[in-house]
Amino acid sequence: MSHHIVLVGMMGAGKTTVGGRLARALDRPFVDSDVQVEQRTARTVREIFETDGEAAYRALESEVLADALASEEPAVIAAAGGTILDESNRRRMRDFGTVVFLEAKPSDLVGRVGGQDHRPLLRDDPEGVLEEMDRVRRHLYEQTADVVVDVSTRSPDEVVAEIVRLVGS
Ligand code: S3P
Repeated sequence: MSHHIVLVGMMGAGKTTVGGRLARALDRPFVDSDVQVEQRTARTVREIFETDGEAAYRALESEVLADALASEEPAVIAAAGGTILDESNRRRMRDFGTVVFLEAKPSDLVGRVGGQDHRPLLRDDPEGVLEEMDRVRRHLYEQTADVVVDVSTRSPDEVVAEIVRLVGS
């Protein structure tokens, strides 16, 4: 039943960029959980955080992740950075997919996270927030992942090639 490829990792790790290219390379659909949340609610991630709060957003991201994983057609799924905080999400990813952790240190990520409206948590101290998130989440990414790919030294296409090599088609 392990048919999806699920990309996990921190904001800025390249889940969306790599996921889109990997899906094309493998001729699979690509599902990005943030995009799904925004389409389903017709609101931006920032609006949801600001009006309904983080817990409401987390419930939505869990819902879209569960739906993506339930789909019969093998897909590449970019799971938003916080999805692994939830135990059921972690179990489902492992049950229905091969989980790939795109790994990089906060200091490598900080230059890659600017400008996007779907990352309200970063506010005015991106590096501090990323460091704290890394401290809380790293072991969860590691324990959930089937494979780990260091993205700090690779271009997106090199990351795609490495995932294809490790996970196959
Ligand atoms: C978050 C990551 C974001 C988005 C939200 C919260 C997080 O997605 O879901 O801003 O808690 O790590 P990306 O990982 O796709 O940037």
